[in-house]
Parts: sequence; C-alpha cells; structure tokens
Amino acid sequence: MDNTVLENDNRDLIEMDRAHIWHHLSQHKKYESADPVLMVEGKGLRVWDSSGREYIDAVAGGVWTVNVGYGRESIADAVREQLAKINFFSHAMGSEPGSRFAEKLLEKMPGMSRVYFSPSGSEANEKVYKMVRQISHAKHGGKKNKILYRARDYHGTTITALSSGGQDERGAQYGPMTPGFVEVPHCLAYRGEGGDKPDFGVRAAEAIEEVIKREGADTIGALVLEPITAGGGAIVPPEGYWEKVQEICRRYDILLHIDEVVCGFGRAGSWFAYQLYGIEPDFVTMAKGVASGYAAIACTVTHERVFEKFKDNPGDPLNYFRDISTFGGCTAGPAAALENMRIIEDEGLIENAAKVGDYLLEKLQQLQKNHEVIGDVRGRGLLAGIELVSDRATREPVEETRVQAVVAGCLQRGVIIGATNRSLAGLNNTLLLAPPLVCSKKDVDAIVDAIDGSLREEFA
Ligand SMILES: Cc1ncc(COP(=O)(O)O)c(C=O)c1O
Repeated sequence: MDNTVLENDNRDLIEMDRAHIWHHLSQHKKYESADPVLMVEGKGLRVWDSSGREYIDAVAGGVWTVNVGYGRESIADAVREQLAKINFFSHAMGSEPGSRFAEKLLEKMPGMSRVYFSPSGSEANEKVYKMVRQISHAKHGGKKNKILYRARDYHGTTITALSSGGQDERGAQYGPMTPGFVEVPHCLAYRGEGGDKPDFGVRAAEAIEEVIKREGADTIGALVLEPITAGGGAIVPPEGYWEKVQEICRRYDILLHIDEVVCGFGRAGSWFAYQLYGIEPDFVTMAKGVASGYAAIACTVTHERVFEKFKDNPGDPLNYFRDISTFGGCTAGPAAALENMRIIEDEGLIENAAKVGDYLLEKLQQLQKNHEVIGDVRGRGLLAGIELVSDRATREPVEETRVQAVVAGCLQRGVIIGATNRSLAGLNNTLLLAPPLVCSKKDVDAIVDAIDGSLREEFA
C-alpha cells in the first residue's frame, strides 16, 4: 500500500464529524481550530487517515485491541457468512459459533469450564461482580459481599466498573460510587517502599492481606486484579507476588478474578498472562483481543465449582444467574473470535509477541541510556511502559503536558503511541506501547526511533 489511498482528504467527513460526533475521552475545544482525525483504512499494523496519511499503530487501535492487525479478510468473510446464516438470537439460547468458540477457548484454559458472553470488558467484569454478590446472598447469608481491587488497575467505564478501578482521575466527578469495593495497594516496585529489595513482591501481596484483616475476611467475596497492570502504567508483577496472592486468597476463601481484558489473547506472550505466573483463578474476563475488534465480544469465564452454585437448588426461583446482555447474543462475536484464534495459532503470533517483545524491551533499555528523562522501562511481551521523570534520583514525575507533547511528537513522526491519560493524579507520566502482535523487529525499530526523536525534541 502506498500513501495515496484516497483521492482527497474527505473534507465532508471531517465537517460531519466536527458537527456531530462526540469523541471518546476527548476535550472537544481543540476541534474548533484543528481537524479531528478519521482513521479510514488499515493493513497489518499500519493505518491511514482520511487525508491518506500513513501511521504505524503502536497501540493496536488506540486501546490495545487489534491483536491480529488490520485488514484480515478471512475474519470479515467468517463474520459475513455467519451473519447471512443467523445474525442474532438471545443467548438464553445457544449458537453454533458460540459453542465452537467456547470449546476452543476452554482448551486454552485448563481448569475453567464455562463461558458467559457479553459485548464489553466493563460488562464482563460486572458479570463477575454480580456473580460474587449473588453467591454472597445465596450462600453466605449476605456476608462476603465486598470486592477488593488494586490501586492503578482499571476494570471499565460503567459506574460500578469505575468503583472497582484504582485510577482516581477516571472516577473523579462520577461519584457517588457503588459501595462495597475496597482498594488494596499497587505492586509497582519503582514507586513502592523498598521496591528495590528482593522481598518487595511478597510484601506487596502481604499488603493485600492487611486490608483483608482490617475489613474482616468474612466480609470479602473476591479480589479483582489485572495480571499485568496495563493502562495504569505497564506494571509487571514483582517476583514472588502472585504466589503469595494466590495463597492469601485460598487461606481466606476469597475468589480470585483476573481481568485479562488487555492481556488475554497473546499480548504478554502467552494465551493469558495469568498462565505466565501459574495462577489458578476463579474468574477470568477478556474482551479486546478476543476478536481483535472485528466484532464486539467479551467473555466471563469460570469453573464448575462456581457454576454449580447457580444450579444446585432448582426449587428456588432465584437459583440461577439472572442476567442478560442483549448483544451477548450477536453471533458475529464468536464467529470473528474463532477465526481470530485460528490466525493467532497458525501465524505463531503468541511466540512472536514473546520474541519481539523481548527485543522491544532491549531497545527501550538502550533508549533509557540515552535519555536522562526515562526513569523506568518495564513490560512483558508486546506491552511496555516508559516512565518519564524530571529527576532520576527523586523520581519526580514529568508533567502530563510534556508527556502528551512526546505522544504528539511521535504522531508527527507517523507513529501512534499512548500514555497514562487522566488516570492517576500527578502520575500520568508513562508512555505506553501495545502494538498488534504482528509487529516485527523492524517495526519496533521504527517505533523506538520515533520515541527517540520526540524525546530529543521535547527534552533537549
Ligand atoms: C484491564 C481492562 N479491563 C476492562 C476494560 C474495559 O473494557 P471495555 O472498554 O471493553 O468496557 C479495559 C479497557 O481499557 C481494561 O483495560
């Protein structure tokens, strides 16, 4: 593909957008003087805007979604074929692609046995919260209804998903929040007390135990965690952390919910990031990479011990999961997901994410040597963060406007990157990368070159 995809810059589309569209996560004042950007085409990890300008997409659709890359005709064909056959029926009934996809998915998740479909990551997480609450009422006389979540993690955008989010700026002005959600400390060594000590991981997990003791284990039903914190700053769990977390959950009979909405489907170099750490979760939620954005699909997955609780007393009219999401019945989702999965397997994209991810980390570590402003580099697979500080000794975060200037500088150089964005007051200072899993070493070189140039410009 060349740069002349379109004959003009589609002025009409831009004006329609300016007049009518309310963009996600955007302050619109700027569009009174600058044009909104419309992405109109994609191939591999490259996208083109309505003026024909080409970009390398280092954030898989802006929000870490397009794992298999753009322009996958075989997914479009699979979806078309399915829609022509039957597009929808409420998932109170089953479907052909639903059954097939669930079976393939569970083959990748030993120990898990049930899949519940919905259309977004936020909803997939809310399903778990509802299940935990229902178990509390039905099995614990209303006790064990609290849900613990971790500082810096994100679990979605609805009021209750925000109530379980550890990013204060995301929740600001949307309160009052849903009661019953309690925060535990983050596990980022770079910003943790004694983060350079070998026992930091165990201590970070023990900090969760302290909260459990304070609240009372009999009040807590579940703990929700991202396996690797994504948008909260690419936080790879420290050594010893997960083993201890698992042990604590077992000891206090607390269900462990792993939010794989970002990490699921290969991003961290394995099907699911929890599998890298030997975790045995009770719930796993996933969304973005499940169908790489070719259709909206999210899954809440659990095992038979949880499932059994929702059918063990059929005489009770409330003894089942009384939840429905209309669009959980769209067949496009599992049809796209099946083909997405085939591509990941046949093209070895998980192995690629692991291999190219190691290369990315190496390149970023080299970059750190040349830029005093880079305080920390972290990541796993094709998920990486570059934390910017104005002083390496004090770790004073760089101002958010300067971080955004680096993102804008990359965009000018034709590379789209991300950053912690209105998430953590005073700590929106981490550049974020999560390119499609088709990313090559050459693509990494181009991405890192753009960041290098942009950092030089901003911090020269
Ligand atoms: C870890 C995590 N969980 C949940 C969500 C919410 O997913 P959705 O935007 O599909 O509702 C996100 C979205 O970015 C996420 O990063």
